[in-house]
Amino acid sequence: MAAFRTAGIMGWPVGHSRSPALHGYWLARHGIAGAYVPLPVRPERIAPALRGLSALGFAGCNVTVPHKQAVLALVDRVEPLARQIGAVNLVVVHEDGSLEGRNTDADGFLQSLRQDCPQWRADAGPAVVLGAGGAARAVMAALAGEGVAELRLLNRTRDHAEALAARFGGRAQVMDWAAPAAALAGAALLVNTTSLGMSGQPPLRLNLAPLPRAAVVADLVYAPLETPLLAAARARGHAVVDGLGMLLHQAVPSFAAWFGVRPEVTAELRAMIATTL
Ligand code: ATR
Repeated sequence: MAAFRTAGIMGWPVGHSRSPALHGYWLARHGIAGAYVPLPVRPERIAPALRGLSALGFAGCNVTVPHKQAVLALVDRVEPLARQIGAVNLVVVHEDGSLEGRNTDADGFLQSLRQDCPQWRADAGPAVVLGAGGAARAVMAALAGEGVAELRLLNRTRDHAEALAARFGGRAQVMDWAAPAAALAGAALLVNTTSLGMSGQPPLRLNLAPLPRAAVVADLVYAPLETPLLAAARARGHAVVDGLGMLLHQAVPSFAAWFGVRPEVTAELRAMIATTL
């Protein structure tokens, strides 16, 4: 009989996380003897909590707010993509007890984009990224990795955008958050990585008129599923990608790493998690 395997999610707070429901669904579906549990870890306790994983026999864990950056310095090895993004969201415990940090957010974004808009191509034209936080770093790395030649970065605090753009050399340029029309003109993809449009936050007010109709519009916000940005984009006939896809797809490589099965993101799973939003 296969050994019982345990994983979880370290965050503070962590009670709102959909990951236990998500991984629990896949464990049941694949008949795997295992568990995925919420692990509430205060910021000052993240180092001992991580060290405890191996002693507790955990296969690994996910890491969420506020620990994603801190974990970079606390694991034994960091995969190059996680180093580039500057954040870890997946920890794998190896046989010898050592910890490896990875990042699955960039892959999750790409898989979600491919599933919802298979027609999107990296060479279709410039991509516009709104925001310059952790989520923007993952999206920028994903698009650069796919070969998007021109990344247009807009952020309320221009300095944050300048710092992020500098990591991507000549292919990223910072444009004006207050005058987005120039960035939208000729673009093939628009991605909102800011928290604007999230329940309890102001909507993202953006005049989409300069955006070509063939452009894909993606929003990383998943609560609500249909943000004001996506509603406006849909009304103009754009193909849209909501934030639930990334949430689901970023979990796939984690599950595969711990439990040895690559699970699928199905319509049934989407519907189940959507009811919790
Ligand atoms: P995440 O990890 O989800 O990316 P984050 O690192 O806190 O979260 O980044 C939040 C992003 O949303 C930032 O780009 C932030 O802009 P600033 O760099 O100017 O702070 C953006 N953001 C948050 N609230 C905003 C608002 N009210 N208007 C415009 N941008 C906002």
